[in-house]
Order: sequence, then C-alpha cells, then structure tokens
Amino acid sequence: MFQSKVIITTVALVFILKSEFILANGQHPNLLHQELFSIEVGPNFTSLASKYGHPASQYEVITEDGYILTMFHLPGRSRFPVILMHGILDSSDTWIIRGENSLAITLANQGYDVWLPNSRGNRYSRRHVQLDPDKDVDFWKYSFHEIGYYDLPALIDRVLKETGAPTLTAIGHSQGNTAFYILGSTKPEYNEKVNVMIALAPICYLHHSPPPISTFIKLTPLVESIFTELNINEVLGDNTTAARIYRFVCSSSVISYPFCAYVLFFPLTGYDPTELEPNFFRISTKYFPAGISSRCLVHFLQVGHRRVFAQFDYGSEGNKALYNSTVPPPYDLSKVSMPIALLAARNDVLSTIPDVILLRDQLPNVVSYIVNPRSQFNHADYVWGRRMRLYLFPYIFPIIQRYNGVN
Ligand SMILES: *[C@@H]1O[C@H](CO)[C@@H](O)[C@H](O)[C@H]1NC(C)=O
Ligand SMILES: *[C@@H]1O[C@H](CO)[C@@H](O)[C@H](O)[C@H]1NC(C)=O
Ligand SMILES: *[C@@H]1O[C@H](CO)[C@@H](O)[C@H](O)[C@H]1NC(C)=O
Repeated sequence: MFQSKVIITTVALVFILKSEFILANGQHPNLLHQELFSIEVGPNFTSLASKYGHPASQYEVITEDGYILTMFHLPGRSRFPVILMHGILDSSDTWIIRGENSLAITLANQGYDVWLPNSRGNRYSRRHVQLDPDKDVDFWKYSFHEIGYYDLPALIDRVLKETGAPTLTAIGHSQGNTAFYILGSTKPEYNEKVNVMIALAPICYLHHSPPPISTFIKLTPLVESIFTELNINEVLGDNTTAARIYRFVCSSSVISYPFCAYVLFFPLTGYDPTELEPNFFRISTKYFPAGISSRCLVHFLQVGHRRVFAQFDYGSEGNKALYNSTVPPPYDLSKVSMPIALLAARNDVLSTIPDVILLRDQLPNVVSYIVNPRSQFNHADYVWGRRMRLYLFPYIFPIIQRYNGVN
C-alpha cells in the first residue's frame, strides 16, 4: 500500500518537474505547447472587483530586499483596515473568485476597508528592482521566511501609512498565517500593529497530515535534490508548462472534474465536492496555481520532515555560515504576542486538528480557537466554499467587530 503510493507520487512528481524543466532551462515551450495549452488565466482582480461593484485601486509596495509587490485595495467607509493574506501558490484573486459570496466582497459590502496583497513571486508580484525572474535565479531564493520577514512589514506599514490607522486586522489563509507567525517572532515590534490575526487553516506543524502529503514529507531529501538537479526555481507560475497543462485540462470541460478534483486537488486539501462543485472548480483552475518558488515548497517539507518549525535548512555548512549553527534556528513562537484566532476544520488534511493544537499550545495570545462544525469543511473551503456565508463568516465577523469597536 505504502509502496504503491510512493511510486504514484514519484511518477506524478517527475511528470510535473519534467514539464517545468522545459522552462527552467530558459527555452520557450515548443510550438505545440503554445498552441495546445493557450488557455489564459481568468479576468484579473481589478476586473472582478468592478464586476461586483467595488472598483479597486492598486498599490506597488517595494520590500527592503527589492521585491515589487502588488496590493489591491477596496476602499471602505470604515477607518479600520483589514488585510487579507493568501496562501501558497495562490494570489489575491482567491479572496474574490466566489464573487458576491466571497470574503473580500462581503467585507467591502459591509463597509470595511479591505487590502489584498500578493506575496513575492506570484502572478502579480513577479518583479524586483534589479533581478529578472526569467533570468536571475536569485529572484527565486526565498521561502515563506522572507514573505514574513520582508513582505509583511512592507505591506503592513504601507496600509497603516495610507489609512492613518494605528493598527489593522489581519486575515490569513494557510501559508498567509505561517508568514504572520514568522513576522511576530522575528520582528516582535510588529505584534503591536496587528489588533487581531484571524488564522483560517493555520499552518505550522505538519506532523499529522495523511498521505499523499506525508509521502511527500518522507521524500523531502529526494524532492529537494530533484529541484536542485533539474534547476527548478519557479513552480507552477502562470507561464510554466505544468500550470498550462493543468489549466488546459481542468478548465476546459466539466468532464475533467473527476480527475482534476478527485485525483489531483482533493487529496491535498480534503474532499468536499458539495462546497467545491464542478462549475466553480473549473473556474478556480484559471486562478490557482499562481506560482511560487520551489524553495517555499521545500521549506514546508523540511518543517514536516525535521518536525521543527525552524528557518530554512541549507545543510550543515550553509547553516553554519548563515546561522552560526549546524541546524537552522527554530522560530520562537512565544514572541508572537499579537491576538490570534485559530479556525480549524476536521477534514483539512494540511492543517490537521492535532497540528493546530500543537501550535495553539505554543502561541501566547490565542483569543479564540474554533473547530468548524461542518465535518466535511476542508482546506480550500475557507476561500472558495460555496456556502462560506453559512459555514465560515459567522465565525469571522464577530471577531473583527470585537477588535475594531463598533463600525
Ligand atoms: C487587469 O485587466 C484589465 C483589463 O484587461 C487591464 O486593463 C489591467 O491593466 C489589468 N490589471 C492588472 C493589475 O493586471
Ligand atoms: C506570461 O507571459 C505573458 C506573455 O509573455 C506575460 O505578459 C505575462 O506577464 C507572463 N506572466 C507570468 C506570471 O509570468
Ligand atoms: C557562534 O557560536 C559560538 C558557539 O555557540 C559562539 O561562541 C560564537 O560567539 C558565535 N559567533 C557569532 C559570530 O555569533
């Protein structure tokens, strides 16, 4: 049983990586790919926001280490800014593709001032003051460590500067939360700037994820060496062959649902076909994945493999040079003093209940811990669920109100 899973996983991995390899070498995908896999990504954030009645403005935020990030803004009556931080391989679009039933539009309809950043390397933030993501490998040398350490401070400072507010409310999904724990532990002065952080599908430890995630974790050294050997730096960016094939196969017909959802997607999030129905799932493939560095994926695998929430492992020599220690230093979660509300779900295979409990017991200021009562609620339902209004928002809005006074 385990062996067959390893074989299937390895074959799938090599297939994905082989197709990335074509682009990693700087060659264009061949003509056949261009013709065949020419499905474009869907209408962008600004277009979607206008469609749902909220013209968005756009900001460029430059980080201390030179990355140029795009942040969207849905201006609201409220003086209280809310920032929505997306997860891995994702973008700001994730918060709006459910339209009238999305969190971004629901917040905007209620008058909140909503800010939607994009972390480095994705569809909207694939820019740098010096480095060219298509030519300079150094552009891709970041993980969620740098997202927490450089991107978040720049984004938070910009929101506070633009609004004049002393603090903001943060809502994160998946890796969006991981970055906030890193911020709070490595730059503790930022804890004061967040009045509450609402963590949807909090990710920190990965001790209890089932296969195939646990299989990938067991194969961490292999995955890492494949990325290195094949010189793969960007994973599933919009123009990579693997992302094109996925979009082509999975967005073109509802018939692809059994394969794309059941075989490729749900094993990594938890099964919930009622909330992610075929028509919507097909649309989601035009937005997700939005690209990330291979190092970001490897860092998550390392956390699972080493069973420590620590900085990136460069190997003993690299670690010695960078950290003055053969092993990477763990993040000190006791420094994350911002108020945090943890929302977990029993059918979330990435952010499992026992792992969220491990995290909860190390964070010093958990103000709320909620396990979603819907037993099928999974990792993706927090951003894409058909009935978030029923299953999710009733837990989010009272927390925002409690920490922002009356709106
Ligand atoms: C979004 O799409 C519109 C219409 O195609 C275009 O004018 C605009 O520049 C795009 N914005 C971004 C941020 O890509
Ligand atoms: C993909 O390629 C198109 C056409 O060259 C370009 O306009 C776009 O910015 C690229 N997107 C990404 C995310 O690399
Ligand atoms: C490196 O670590 C050693 C042993 O822990 C310590 O004695 C030394 O002062 C450290 N060096 C620096 C530059 O921090």
